[in-house]
Amino acid sequence: MPSWFRRNGKYEAPRDAQGRKAVIDIRNINKTYQMGELELQVLKGIDLQIFEGEFVSIMGPSGSGKSTLMNILGALDQPTTGEYFLDGVDVSKLSESQLARIRNKKIGFVFQSFNLLKRTSALRQVELPLIYGGDSNRRKRAMAALNSVGLGERIDHLPSELSGGQQQRVAIARALVTEPAMILADEATGNLDSRSGTEVMQIFQRLNEEQGITVIFVTHDPWTARHTKRLVMLRDGKVVADQMVPKPLVAGESERPSEAEALADIFRETYYGGEQHEYT
Ligand SMILES: Nc1ncnc2c1ncn2[C@@H]1O[C@H](COP(=O)(O)OP(=O)(O)OP(=O)(O)O)[C@@H](O)[C@H]1O
Ligand SMILES: [Mg+2]
Repeated sequence: MPSWFRRNGKYEAPRDAQGRKAVIDIRNINKTYQMGELELQVLKGIDLQIFEGEFVSIMGPSGSGKSTLMNILGALDQPTTGEYFLDGVDVSKLSESQLARIRNKKIGFVFQSFNLLKRTSALRQVELPLIYGGDSNRRKRAMAALNSVGLGERIDHLPSELSGGQQQRVAIARALVTEPAMILADEATGNLDSRSGTEVMQIFQRLNEEQGITVIFVTHDPWTARHTKRLVMLRDGKVVADQMVPKPLVAGESERPSEAEALADIFRETYYGGEQHEYT
């Protein structure tokens, strides 16, 4: 363990070259599932630091451990061994009820399937995390969050009265309203048509650019990943690539290329980091 990791026994979050503090700091995390006699090691010594204001995508083939890692990052599950500091708090030491509290205070979740309540207005959906957290000023804060995703005019609508893209924006407002240290999004644009997907990506990019919100995206889609600033690739439970996205795309500014082309680009850049002409 490096000496700067703890000072006088107390954890100090590392900083990146720009002086930004680590929101996520995981050290040598392993996750093993016990399957009867068999031990299945799903995460194999993962180290990952994500700093304030980053916009990161996590990619990897099916079964590589993305969801397992996401569940640990989201404090929904504990690693078998290793350490996880979330916004300065040692998560691996917490009880179930402490974890629930950390989730409510520090993490905003956005899922592929929106996870909204059927008979509940947009405003009420966004107020809910504040109610669970016992926060005050709920209506005002929920209104502000809905305004920030462009839904200030739709606060009384039920999910059935909103488009897919608008429903996902309600979910984003609900994730934002507690002012979490980060937003974890699992295939957040996966269920949306391309126009709504673009709208939702525009919102994430704006929240990240203008409000400095840390966003982590799990995605299968290289085109989506190219809109983020950093790409972490998992394979077989290990981080096999971790690099800045060269020239992140601005949502809505360019046409989506064919899937094969997007894949070829992202893999080329991730593994070789070279210029186009070197490979054709
Ligand atoms: N609760 C569990 N018990 C036993 N094995 C599990 C459990 N959860 C996941 N696994 C195994 O761990 C491995 C990684 O699963 P994980 O869901 O993290 O993959 P993933 O990268 O999210 O895949 P996908 O892209 O298909 O969602 C798989 O081999 C899976 O079968
Ligand atoms: Mg998964």
